[in-house]
Amino acid sequence: MPLESAQALGTTSGERRDTLTITDNRTGKTYEIPITDDSIRAIDLRQIKVNPDDFGLLSYDPAYLNTASCRSAITYIDGDRGILVHRGYSIEQLCEHSTYLEVAYLLIHGHLPTRTQLDQWVHEITYHTFVHENIKKFMEGFRYDAHPMGMLMASVAALSTFYPESKRIDDPWQNHISAVRLIAKMPTLAAFAYRHAVGLPYVYPNNDLSYPANFLSMMFKIGDAPYEPDPRLVRALDVLLILHADHEQNASTSAVRSVGSTHVDPFSAIAAGIGALYGPLHGGANEQVLQMLNRIGKVENIPAFLQGVKERRELLMGFGHRVYKNYDPRARIIRKYVDDVLAVTGMNPKLEIAVELERQALADEYFVSRKLFPNVDFYSGIIYEALKIPTDMMTVIFAIARTAGWIAQWLEMINDPEQKISRPRQIYTGPLNLTYVPLDQRG
Ligand code: CMC
Repeated sequence: MPLESAQALGTTSGERRDTLTITDNRTGKTYEIPITDDSIRAIDLRQIKVNPDDFGLLSYDPAYLNTASCRSAITYIDGDRGILVHRGYSIEQLCEHSTYLEVAYLLIHGHLPTRTQLDQWVHEITYHTFVHENIKKFMEGFRYDAHPMGMLMASVAALSTFYPESKRIDDPWQNHISAVRLIAKMPTLAAFAYRHAVGLPYVYPNNDLSYPANFLSMMFKIGDAPYEPDPRLVRALDVLLILHADHEQNASTSAVRSVGSTHVDPFSAIAAGIGALYGPLHGGANEQVLQMLNRIGKVENIPAFLQGVKERRELLMGFGHRVYKNYDPRARIIRKYVDDVLAVTGMNPKLEIAVELERQALADEYFVSRKLFPNVDFYSGIIYEALKIPTDMMTVIFAIARTAGWIAQWLEMINDPEQKISRPRQIYTGPLNLTYVPLDQRG
């Protein structure tokens, strides 16, 4: 083995040791730290001290750019190669063969269900879609123009008060029924929020419809006429739900895990996740993509818009990802469904702008050198718009879908003996030892 390679492995004899040798140049002391799964434990750095009273070395990682917060067997992402896998199954296979409710089962239980298990799961979810009538009154208290994400976040938190037994998170039955209730009721709450905004009476769930068809029915049904959405639109919505079902330790999932680590009930933890998802850098991006396409207005305006992005006056929304440094596999799948949906609903002029915007960006050194590719939100808004989903409801649908992932991650976290209450450290940069000055003596 060449000397340089041997030294990189921490040995000159060529024999591999899975450890990291650190020399602290402040003291000259050397430490050997185990490496497991290509990681060191941050707590192992604590032994590195200048003197015995020293707190010990911390790792500083704002925004968790290089810190694993858990071990997880749910979702695997290879961001450089554009790969997304849930419980071992590629997202491409799941979108082709599965349904959202089956993927939810897979994420939460860790394996694909048998026919009997799936029937039972779908039945349970279908028969928990109704919400307590008081939730309707609660919804009515919002202003007519309340954002549906705010309404969803508040009403999911409110559900915790209807199911106080969900606090018993050491009872597997309670956790199961909370999972069922959350997945079942999320579309009902979302549709109620929409109907509130448009001033239409709430539509109750229809247990004869599939999960996505029932959601469309609760959104759009008028009067007593039966609501029968085109099956291609229902399938496109189901695929969008699958695509958004989980994405390992993203901001909202980390929020659910962090809040859940206090052992609060799952409704409260997931309400926190909805808050995180609301932000324009996370789930709010699809809304921003449509606003951006509207502002661009026509293909001829694209070069000027991209120039503005390169001059850092704004972001190209729907591009870039913390983990994917390649084409987001979810964006590739969505792109295929755009054509299916528009075949039913008619052409959307924004698609032409989006396709050309993508083409020009991917040919531009600014985006190429930064490995910026379309993410899941770049084309999803166009499908939602074709489904007549208003822009402020798009993130709400993301929240419906992500509920399965949040629950799976929450369950994994509360059953992981290594997890404790989340409590990051800080590097204090403020003053110390100031003497309090009474108010009337301050200048
Ligand atoms: N448009 C223009 N420049 C960008 C963009 C963008 N969308 N995204 C990143 N960059 C630039 C950024 O300015 C930086 O350039 P430089 O190195 O010269 O300073 C470089 O690319 C690296 O970006 P970063 O900010 O370090 O990347 P990040 O990992 O912190 O941010 C992101 C990831 C998704 C927040 C960011 O790419 C972004 O704001 N994208 C637009 C919003 C968006 O589409 N969000 C949806 C994400 S996917 C759905 C979800 O998971 O919620």
